[in-house]
Amino acid sequence: MFVLGLETSCDETAAAVVTEDRRILANKVLSQLDEHRPFGGVVPEIAARSHLDHIGDLVEQAMSEAGLEFAQLDGVAATGGPGLIGGVFVGVMTAKAIAAAHKIPFLAVNHLEGHALTARLSEGDAAAFPYLLLLVSGGHCQLLAVEGVGRYIRLGGTIDDAVGEAFDKTAKMLGLPYPGGPALEQAARAGDAKSVELPRPMRGRPGCDFSFSGLKTAVRHRIEAMLEGRDDLEESQVADLAASFQRAVGDVLADRCTHAMERFAQTYGRPGPLVVAGGVAANQALRDRLSELAQAQGTELLAPPIALCTDNAAMIAWAGMERLQLGLTDPLTFAPRPRWPLDQLKGVA
Ligand code: KG4
Ligand code: ZN
Repeated sequence: MFVLGLETSCDETAAAVVTEDRRILANKVLSQLDEHRPFGGVVPEIAARSHLDHIGDLVEQAMSEAGLEFAQLDGVAATGGPGLIGGVFVGVMTAKAIAAAHKIPFLAVNHLEGHALTARLSEGDAAAFPYLLLLVSGGHCQLLAVEGVGRYIRLGGTIDDAVGEAFDKTAKMLGLPYPGGPALEQAARAGDAKSVELPRPMRGRPGCDFSFSGLKTAVRHRIEAMLEGRDDLEESQVADLAASFQRAVGDVLADRCTHAMERFAQTYGRPGPLVVAGGVAANQALRDRLSELAQAQGTELLAPPIALCTDNAAMIAWAGMERLQLGLTDPLTFAPRPRWPLDQLKGVA
């Protein structure tokens, strides 16, 4: 079986084709970074217009790389939300048009479900249901028990910033280039993670919720103290702050995941596996930290390859494939959803 997937919910225009036996036949991603960089963040109007300019070409490229005609597709999936609504419209309308023209099923995929099921594409049977999911992206930071396609039980989430947002804002304060997450990780490589004392919000508290705004504020205070009237920090100070911030985030994630593993074990009789997904899962230092934690708890960390952690269409095609196989197709009247929590999906009992 072949499913074409489209992703247009943020600043990547992407098209991919996957098979039911987990092969990725094409995975095209066009980043709009250069278009948004002058503004220091994603501009929704620019994003939507750029998706419109490029989606046709990307679909053509993905289909030709996969060596397929539209008529050979078993389904076409697009991100139906959550995300920047102008962009979501572009992907959804493109997919609906292909579905209508070629009389194939249409699948509206929740972007977060795309991230959540990626480990099943990359790791196969190791990511059999149920598993514990740490979803860490630019807009989300959640711990969930994944029982099946469309079946998510929320164990905790952030009470303020998402972790990717904390990376991006902290990077901006440090004067690092946009996008902040990868730039901060790069800067942290030259720094000493023990050099700057920072708080670990929520550590030791019961439950699985997160908070990052206090950590961000603490970094701002340290920067002000270090500047001592100068305009810019020295490179070594930036590196030390970046490394210390990244370590603090790792400690918080590890503490919250430990609680989640305990709760997961109470329900399912084992603490994991722990699956990490979303753009922040591209961070190698955090992957290493979570891998050590999982091993210490007697389970394993499953982390998809980095290119499948940041936004891509292979994950949308794969979630579409899983839904198609369960008969969970969507009508062409589907309306894009700017907000769409994972625990409100339609699944199978
Ligand atoms: O999943 P994603 O590509 O888009 C959303 O759905 O949000 O995640 C983007 C987020 C951004 O906040 C970005 O800074 C962060 O993931 N990110 C990273 C790294 N690569 C991307 N954060 C930390 N370290 C990285 N290497
Ligand atoms: Zn994402």
